[in-house]
Amino acid sequence: KPKGKKAARGLRFTPVAPNTADKVTVPDGYRQNVVIRWGEPILRGAPAFDADKQSAKAQAGQFGYNNDFLSLLPLRGESEEHGRQVLVANHEYTDEVLMFKGYDAKNPTREQVEIAWAAHGLSVVVVDGERKTGALRPVPRHRLNRRLTTTSKFHLTGPAARSEFVRTKADPRGTTVLGTLNNCSGGTTPWGTTLHGEENFNQYFAHADKVTDPTQAARLKRYGVVGGESERKWERFDDRFDLTKEPNEPHRFGWVVELDPYDPDSTPRKRTALGRFKHEGAQPRLTRDGRPVVYMGDDERFDYVYKFVSSKRMAKGDSRWAREHNLTLLDEGTLYVAKFTGDSPAAEIDGTGKLPADGEFDGGGQWIPLATAYAGGKAVSHVEGMTADEVYVFTRLAGDKVGATKMDRPEDIEPSPRTGKVYVALTNNSDRGKPGKAGADEANPRNLNKHGQVLELTESRNRPESTRFAWNLFLVAGDPNDPATYFAGFPKDKVSPISCPDNVAFDPHGNLWISTDGNQLGSHDGLFGVATKGERRGELKQFLTMPAGAETCGPLVQERRVLVAVQHPGEVDGASVEKPASAWPDGPGKIVRPAVVSVWRANGDDIGV
Ligand code: FEO
Ligand code: CA
Ligand code: CA
Ligand code: CA
Repeated sequence: KPKGKKAARGLRFTPVAPNTADKVTVPDGYRQNVVIRWGEPILRGAPAFDADKQSAKAQAGQFGYNNDFLSLLPLRGESEEHGRQVLVANHEYTDEVLMFKGYDAKNPTREQVEIAWAAHGLSVVVVDGERKTGALRPVPRHRLNRRLTTTSKFHLTGPAARSEFVRTKADPRGTTVLGTLNNCSGGTTPWGTTLHGEENFNQYFAHADKVTDPTQAARLKRYGVVGGESERKWERFDDRFDLTKEPNEPHRFGWVVELDPYDPDSTPRKRTALGRFKHEGAQPRLTRDGRPVVYMGDDERFDYVYKFVSSKRMAKGDSRWAREHNLTLLDEGTLYVAKFTGDSPAAEIDGTGKLPADGEFDGGGQWIPLATAYAGGKAVSHVEGMTADEVYVFTRLAGDKVGATKMDRPEDIEPSPRTGKVYVALTNNSDRGKPGKAGADEANPRNLNKHGQVLELTESRNRPESTRFAWNLFLVAGDPNDPATYFAGFPKDKVSPISCPDNVAFDPHGNLWISTDGNQLGSHDGLFGVATKGERRGELKQFLTMPAGAETCGPLVQERRVLVAVQHPGEVDGASVEKPASAWPDGPGKIVRPAVVSVWRANGDDIGV
């Protein structure tokens, strides 16, 4: 039983109650501002946003659509004086029916398609902090500001670059890809770059139904590349999105992208040594000898948790040599997939979420090596019957072969900078236990899992490179009144309800923050903080809620500021520009715009102290 009344340091705020208000609701005593919206100009020459006069050219210089992952990096040389930082944002996807008046989904125009190409990708934008508040504002035309879109150049690096699977007519050497797609979550490296996971790339490729080669068809199916025309019909405007014309183009997406936001002339890299799947977060930590280890989820029902262990040590300092060396760290090392084993008898895991007799969903596990990459793009496979190129390009199939554990939609994964424990958000799995599908196991203990869980993983001897680990479920999400929920043993009458944990982040005090996507408890999505240590461990408190239809993304918690990406506000079945389901952020009569929001404490104190 927790002593005293005070929540953990960093979490001392009045929790926001579940609600369906069409706004960002923050705790009493907190303030907020919209930092940047879809369409705001960031590059030189870009016009102000005009919903009725959109163009691809304008969008290419403006902040993109559907901001997901956020990173805030220090701005060397300028930060002391101005409180400036570099904001990097993912633009996961476009929602044409909410972007264009009278959008005809069957017949998009070339201009609409090209606007969507320019609204995808990444943004780099310098932001300036107000002295007395936590408000942030963009600095347009800063020399570091940058847009990367569906038509920007990316290099493929590591073992699968140049392989037969990634060569196309436009790129016969298999080294240069145009664009990055569906960037979901990501990570910030200790060497000052950002990582961006390419998630649901399958939806952009058309005519998988015309593929006759059974091997190719099976591979496409395993990645969800199915059906005839694509939803956005891009194949009508660029052949590379048509599988009958360019069968290898989908193999050039589904990677982790590394971007150097400090070098506006650099070409971002797709790091093939980290495998190809529906990538979510990619948050590195370092081994004691300085090698990065990157934890990664593949967000699909019954897909896997991965990690990459580099064989190269990070160079310290900011010399040109160090920066160039560090841009090779993610090209050499071993890719692993996780197998979780429960320690309770299988008969005690009945699929309802009832705790087993030992009082915990927990057990051990191992990291199964899939392939190792060496200098110069050489690699060896550890999977029988698959070449190294096949393991890297068809990583899901490698996971299938080695018997990895089928999880409930592994989303963001983040190691605690304080304790080294690793937190895995498992969003939900509506198919668990259905006929022909895997049933409950100790790590995924509920059939038809609507609310998800957060798994806590402890590497053997707390070494990130270990191949064995222990694990336990930290949270089993849902309404605390539902007996099939668990909050690390904390009294359930003192916690906020939570559903569909999605992104995870740590605050400077070591508390875990969790954002949600798809709340199934009748409230809008939100952001929550929870202590992971001490007597308040498991005391989950809701910090904010989202406008209608929005998913909470990109949470970042600094001492004085919480930053969130409000992704797809107004995305409700049947909604359109003409029939909006949300009036956020600019009020009735204005087009709905995904945007980044900063929240701070009105009295100037740190968050939650
Ligand atoms: Fe883009 Fe898995 O959420
Ligand atoms: Ca157990
Ligand atoms: Ca997400
Ligand atoms: Ca999600």
